[in-house]
Amino acid sequence: MRITVIGSGYVGLVTGACLAEYGNQVVCLDLDAEKVAQLQQGNVHIYEPGLEELIRRNMQAGRLHFTADIGASVAHGTIQFIAVGTPADEDGSADLQYVLAAASNIGRYLNEYKVIVNKSTVPVGTADLVKQAVQAQLDLRQQRSSFSVVSNPEFLKEGAAVDDFMRPDRIVIGTEDETAKDLMQAIYAPLVRNHDRILSMDLRSAELTKYAANAMLATRISFMNELANLSEVLGADIELVRKGIGSDPRIGYHFLYPGVGYGGSCFPKDVQALQQTAMQFGEPLKILQAVHDVNRLQKNILLNKIMAHFGSDLRGLHFAVWGLAFKPDTDDLREAPSLVLIEGLLACGATVAAHDPVANDKAAQYFAGRAGLQFTELPMQALEQANALVIVTEWKAFRSPDFASIKKSLRSAIIFDGRNLYEPKRMKAEEISYYPIGREQIL
Ligand code: NAD
Ligand code: UGA
Repeated sequence: MRITVIGSGYVGLVTGACLAEYGNQVVCLDLDAEKVAQLQQGNVHIYEPGLEELIRRNMQAGRLHFTADIGASVAHGTIQFIAVGTPADEDGSADLQYVLAAASNIGRYLNEYKVIVNKSTVPVGTADLVKQAVQAQLDLRQQRSSFSVVSNPEFLKEGAAVDDFMRPDRIVIGTEDETAKDLMQAIYAPLVRNHDRILSMDLRSAELTKYAANAMLATRISFMNELANLSEVLGADIELVRKGIGSDPRIGYHFLYPGVGYGGSCFPKDVQALQQTAMQFGEPLKILQAVHDVNRLQKNILLNKIMAHFGSDLRGLHFAVWGLAFKPDTDDLREAPSLVLIEGLLACGATVAAHDPVANDKAAQYFAGRAGLQFTELPMQALEQANALVIVTEWKAFRSPDFASIKKSLRSAIIFDGRNLYEPKRMKAEEISYYPIGREQIL
């Protein structure tokens, strides 16, 4: 099948490369000429395990191409996936300018039946706006080509994106057009050969499904974070509570880890965008407002613990930070809790040495020119002369460190752990002061 993917970011690249792997002829469009030039050399601008090899293999096989040429990319695909960003507007609603620009561009060059598939996360009703944007361009050109608009939201997670795409839990296809539905099923059938995981539904339900899924997951996280904070004052252990409730299959173990608040390019913006839609239609989601508020507070939890220990004036103190990316296995810093922590430490007069296995460069760009902050190549280098170690992201490399070396490097043996990587008992035995989330503190 001939497929065009508009937008070569996380979702566009993964979609394009994975569909090429299944034998489709794929052209990926991006308007960022520099990005396209790099991709044409096989260089991928994001860190995503397995993605670069997949892209290179399919480019070599002649099934995957990158271009900045809008006309050529529209001409190529019978299916046109839109996978551009939908960032939060000032009021929190989804900014649809990139989606509608992509739709207009399709309309400018459309001259035969095509299926326009929206993979970006968009508010309910966006399919109608996409239809209008395409039709407006056709009318301008007095062109009478037909087309269908489909909602096909993406559920992949960064850090596991290729695997998630190749082995989906479900594929949601929202359309009222049978021809479009058949084409979409044909594209995805090879990915779900042994399981019937394709869910067909109307457009609006498909659009809402995406927000509902992210909002539900974000709700679990905020609830666990509140329970963790309550556990601390009650003298309970959130890790035991997590296992105790997760063992009930109606609850399940996934997405029950308390921490430093959810970050990333999606949960924060999608929770707000769904709330905006709900308010526009006079049905505000009270739970979702609480989810958002709790998350904002939780992002300060490490700074609060640090200030409870050292006082609010941190001048003259130096902190080691392990983990900058919003989660492991990605270099994505969007809405990362580490940014809130570092801003807070610097604002209180402290200095910081931070290490992340892959996000150092992006963080250095983000904080460019800020005094009192350095990034280290190795985790242990960050610890030298620090008053405490603060763990923000649960990279595997941080799980079994040499505690004797940590103690030797730090000025005082204190760990603030935002991800509960270590057992409090072990910390007691190592004689390290330990501040986890929702568990016994070792003072
Ligand atoms: P991204 O910012 O990584 O990439 C978007 C790309 O689109 C950029 O390279 C940009 O240059 C390009 N672009 C913008 N306008 C364009 C246009 N008119 N024509 C061609 N290219 C254009 O974004 P992303 O993380 O891939 O997210 C895309 C959408 O998918 C968002 O709606 C997001 O909510 C959703 N989503 C993201 C993830 C994720 O893990 N990142 C997962 C599921 C869904
Ligand atoms: C999330 C969803 O999991 C994907 O299904 C969805 O497609 C995607 O958003 C999207 O729409 O973009 P992602 O943001 O890549 O994926 O990462 P997650 O693994 O969901 O983690 C999000 C945040 O929640 C991270 O900051 C993570 O640390 C935090 N989290 C996650 C917790 O604090 N506790 C948990 O138990 C799980």
